[in-house]
Amino acid sequence: MSINVSLTIGLTKSRQYGETARRVAPGGSPDGKWWEPDLIYAARAKGSHLTDLDGNELIDYYCGAGPIIIGHADPEVNQAVIDTMQNIGVQFALPHRGSIGLAEKLSRCFPSAEMSVFCNAGTDTAHFAVRTARTFTGRPKIVKFEGGYQGWADPVAMSTNPKASAFGSEDAPHTVPDTGGMPPGVVENTIILPYNNLEVAARRLEKEKREIACVFVEPYIHGFGIAAKPGFLRGLADLCAANDIPLIFDEIVTGFRHGIGGMQKIEGITPDMTIIGKAMANGFPISALVGKRRYMESLFPRGAAFFSGTFNGNPLSTAAALKTIEILERPGFHDRLYKSGDTLRQAIGEAITRLNVKAVCYGYGSVWYLVFDSRPPENYRDVYKYRQDGGSRIEEAYRHHMLNRGIFIFPGRGTRSYISAAHSAQDIQRTIDAAVEFLTAHQHDLR
Ligand SMILES: Cc1ncc(COP(=O)(O)O)c(C=O)c1O
Repeated sequence: MSINVSLTIGLTKSRQYGETARRVAPGGSPDGKWWEPDLIYAARAKGSHLTDLDGNELIDYYCGAGPIIIGHADPEVNQAVIDTMQNIGVQFALPHRGSIGLAEKLSRCFPSAEMSVFCNAGTDTAHFAVRTARTFTGRPKIVKFEGGYQGWADPVAMSTNPKASAFGSEDAPHTVPDTGGMPPGVVENTIILPYNNLEVAARRLEKEKREIACVFVEPYIHGFGIAAKPGFLRGLADLCAANDIPLIFDEIVTGFRHGIGGMQKIEGITPDMTIIGKAMANGFPISALVGKRRYMESLFPRGAAFFSGTFNGNPLSTAAALKTIEILERPGFHDRLYKSGDTLRQAIGEAITRLNVKAVCYGYGSVWYLVFDSRPPENYRDVYKYRQDGGSRIEEAYRHHMLNRGIFIFPGRGTRSYISAAHSAQDIQRTIDAAVEFLTAHQHDLR
């Protein structure tokens, strides 16, 4: 089976600009967001649309890698930031009404948020979460799941996307660094477990409980579209409690995107600590480590876990977060967002059935995926096998087709797509039509 779709939209200016950019930044991308050969340079974004340097106006399902939940450059959020800038200030490196107000707000939103600290990115909070757990327990090791992404910091930058030649057996995955420059001591202290497998988790946690400082888990691995099976998160929480190991939820993606209070509220599970970011401020840079008091008091200045950051909790980002949460709390906000996701999933799903093709359109709330397999993956190895068996090539053709129709899906790899409240019914219908057109055109190759 071979499905090839060439890009037909004009990318001349992006490509020319890429030559200039490569002289001054690795890969032509100073933000580390890089993909070849079709690196698009952004010109501007508003509402549900992103415009590139060539003037292509694209319906944007990348949403700035997830944070854009209300819509690009939302006037209300922007105004809150402008007012703060003009009347309050830009940077204090001191606590202020905005940061304390936001901590109070998070306590009301998230079951696990008795106390909060703020950073600028998800990675910062992941690093501080690990440090806090290690300080609290006095133990060196952490547990994370194969395929999970908790950011680029050393302790967690492991086995996010490992190759078969390195990843070991399914029951005892090897710890595979995501990056060069990883000291062996760090690798030894990160244990990798298979997602959705409570048996393996039970054995490993029991065996190494005296050395494990925390279990770090995403309640939905959105990087690869892997949902937690019913009972998995509850079982993991019970195992952590039984073995006296702190449980940390990574709700950087799910935090405000799936609802006020994140997946922990939906699932009725209260982890010991949580990291939140992305959709919390509709694109302004802020993240939070929140948790139960006894863990959070391990942090500086009360505890020994050093915590700092010049821009942490700055007035512009806290103002953006407070306004964003206020908008998200308005009646029906998430219902409308979920409905857009359901409409897409249902219409594309019906076309899949009608055309009898091997594909599945699934996801959660405002995140949707179209993969060319008979069912959604249950763990990283399912994704790996599917991609090696030709899934990656079909997904690339699909992304190119969508781009040719003016629709921007998560670039580079995979088909993760975020919806914002600015995506109109027409945007959604255009997207359905384009996806169905792809399925129809390639139906014989997709069986
Ligand atoms: C689940 C999850 N955790 C952590 C991170 C790291 O966040 P950041 O890129 O803001 O450092 C990401 C980023 O994509 C993520 O998806």
